[in-house]
Formats: sequence, C-alpha cells, structure tokens
Amino acid sequence: MSRTVYVNGNWYPEEDARVSVFDRGFLMADGVYEVTSVLDSGLIDFQRHCKRLARSLSELDIPNPHTMEEWTALHEEIRRRNGLTEGLIYLQVTRGAEDRDFAWSDDLVPTVVLFTQAKGLLDNPAAQRGLTIKTIDDLRWLRRDIKTVQLLYPSMGKMMARQAGADDAWMVEEGLVTEGTSNNAYIIKSEKIITRQLSPRILPGITRLAVLALADETGMSVEERPFSVAEAQAADEAFLTSATAFVMPVVEIDGVKIGSGTPGPLVNRLRALYIERARQHGVES
Ligand code: PDD
Repeated sequence: MSRTVYVNGNWYPEEDARVSVFDRGFLMADGVYEVTSVLDSGLIDFQRHCKRLARSLSELDIPNPHTMEEWTALHEEIRRRNGLTEGLIYLQVTRGAEDRDFAWSDDLVPTVVLFTQAKGLLDNPAAQRGLTIKTIDDLRWLRRDIKTVQLLYPSMGKMMARQAGADDAWMVEEGLVTEGTSNNAYIIKSEKIITRQLSPRILPGITRLAVLALADETGMSVEERPFSVAEAQAADEAFLTSATAFVMPVVEIDGVKIGSGTPGPLVNRLRALYIERARQHGVES
C-alpha cells in the first residue's frame, strides 16, 4: 500500500511526492534530518529530536520552518495518516532550491519532507545474537555533531562491513573509536560503561542521552572518554545505540569476540530498561 508523504505543506501518495532537481539537498547535501522511532503508536523522545533539529539548522544558518508544536503536529499527523504503530518517521529539511551555485541566497525557503517506514523494532533478531563490527577509518568531515544528510561515507562504511561479513562498522580516528556508521558506540569494563564524550567528532545521540541517564539512575557508572579498538576487543561487553536500534549488543569486533561472544547481561538489562521506559513514558526523564 502506498504511503502518504509530506512535502512542503502538502500530503501526497508516495508516487506523486516531488522535490526540485535544483534542491540544494540533492545537489550539495545541504540539509539536515532526524529519525524518530514509533512504538505502540507513540513517538519516542520527540522533544529531544526536535531540539537537536533546531540546533542542526541553526549551525548551518537554515531557518527553522516550524515551531516545536508544529513539528509535533506534523509527526502525529503523518503517523496517523499512515497507521504507523511501530517503525520510524524520517524528517528532512534542506536549505531549499535555486539554480546551482556553491554560495546560496539568504532568502531561500527550506524544503521539508517527512515519510514513515513501518518496521518491527522490538522483535529485532540482532538483539538476541548481537552484532559483529568491522572497524574503518573515520573519513567524515569534522562537524559530525550536525545531523546532515551527507551520508555517503557512512553508507560506504556499511557496505565495507557487509563485504567483510560484518553487520556494521565503527569508525576510528587517531586510534580511537568515534562512533558507528549510524549509532553511538560503547564498551563495558568491570561494570563501567565507557563511551566517547560529546564533541564535534560525534553526533549527540538522543538514545545515548537517555541510556546514560538510565545507567545513572540504576547506579551503573559511566565514563565519557574515547577508547581504542584494542580496549574494545578486551572489554567485557560492548553495544551501540540509535533511535531505531535502541540498545544493541555488539559481540565481535574485527573478528575478536567480546567477552563470551554473546550479548552480555548488562547490555541486555540496559536494552530492557530503555524499551520499558520508551513504551511507558516515551523516554524523556
Ligand atoms: N542515525 N551517530 C550517528 C552517526 C548516527 O547517524 C546516529 C543516528 C546516531 C544515534 O543517534 P540517535 O540516538 O539520536 O538516533 C549516532 C539514525 C538513526 C539514522 O541515520 O538512521
């Protein structure tokens, strides 16, 4: 069945949804996005996604076309129109369209696109078996804190992982793990969670924020600092987080098994806690 897609104030069957070939999102990757998950028909942590969207836009001097209330209403409406109970809502805002030039005009009107993807997020078999990871050099630009649509290198990273027989890739810079192609990266050693501190080198994950708060609440200690691949390989457990993966165990890095090579107890606990909080309260705390 065809989805209903939102483009610049109008609702279209997906076959009829169009943006200009002169859109700077298409020509220059000049745009930002958010992915919000939906569980039991509810949006997960939407206010935080909205705040990050506002920040991404502001860092790029793209005017924010909507208030938080309007964004919320649009998300609720697209969820309802598509009968989405579980999956994700994708939102993209680009600077707008004009004849191709590197410099842009100040008066461009941003392009706004929303669509849904129905997907089973809770019953993900990867959560039972855990993911295998390949490490690759982090060759992205140095403003990874802005959630731009420049996803070519992360896409290449996923393909490099797949070609190597791994599920995903973690990126490494100066010997230290930055983050996953589309997720934040963590290890656990002696019951302490270790994950890189926020900086322009990684995306400030919304799930990361929630999971670190949950860890705090449950008395687990957290250390925010970078870790090396060797340290990760010697960890007791490892995991990644994202809006759609939630908390996902990592069981192997570059062919080396982490701990027992199966999802560890603390990761399983964090995943269960996160999902419980998401279902009961839409997360925020
Ligand atoms: N990706 N780091 C990167 C590079 C990401 O692309 C993402 C999210 C994250 C996790 O952020 P959050 O917890 O807010 O989802 C970290 C989304 C899910 C995507 O591109 O599909």
